[in-house]
Amino acid sequence: MTTSVLPPWRSVLKAAQRREGRSPSARWLQLATVAKNGQPRVRTLVFRAWTESNQLELLTDTRSEKIQDLDYQQSVEICWLFTKAREQYRLSGVANVIKINNNRELCQKKWLSLSPSGRAVWGWPRPGEMLNPGASFPEAFSDDEPMPDHFSVLQIDIEHVERLHLGPHPHHRTRWLRDQNWRSEDLNP
Ligand SMILES: Cc1cc2nc3c(=O)[nH]c(=O)nc-3n(C[C@H](O)[C@H](O)[C@H](O)COP(=O)(O)O)c2cc1C
Repeated sequence: MTTSVLPPWRSVLKAAQRREGRSPSARWLQLATVAKNGQPRVRTLVFRAWTESNQLELLTDTRSEKIQDLDYQQSVEICWLFTKAREQYRLSGVANVIKINNNRELCQKKWLSLSPSGRAVWGWPRPGEMLNPGASFPEAFSDDEPMPDHFSVLQIDIEHVERLHLGPHPHHRTRWLRDQNWRSEDLNP
């Protein structure tokens, strides 16, 4: 269950993101998962939207390894760095994978929200496999082309947030826990 009132960390994070201006990197975050063999795995994804007060949305490919990790362990951590604000956010929670066969309508809506070039990677061969030099890597997917079956939406329900701000001396470290009603707690940096 998610709450409709915005948790206090949302406005702080938004201010940090705004300071990055129009830089695409303001939307790049790192998503960490745990593989079945216990190995941690981390990679960059594009932040797409807040879909609930504490739910963040990402887009991915069901053929990628992170989906197998999430089948094994739904708990994830996101690390999001805002360089101009000198702030790091660590957001942890639970990831839900929404595939075409769970909710085609939502996937289709998100698919169409992408630019033709933004959709292209879903037309590429299976991520992580050996490169076949003869394979085709389209540069764009028009609105008329069908959504690939491996397009998927990741919705992450955030339960724990930590912010580290390197601006002041000493640095500020703050924690918000959902099960404490997002009450702000100051920690040693
Ligand atoms: C700047 C940047 C943005 C990326 N955005 C996404 C994204 O939104 N979704 C995605 O699935 N992969 C994205 N990737 C690729 C992932 O980092 C990763 O290589 C890919 O998803 C395969 O990861 P996996 O093998 O751990 O599943 C992005 C990579 C970079 C460098």
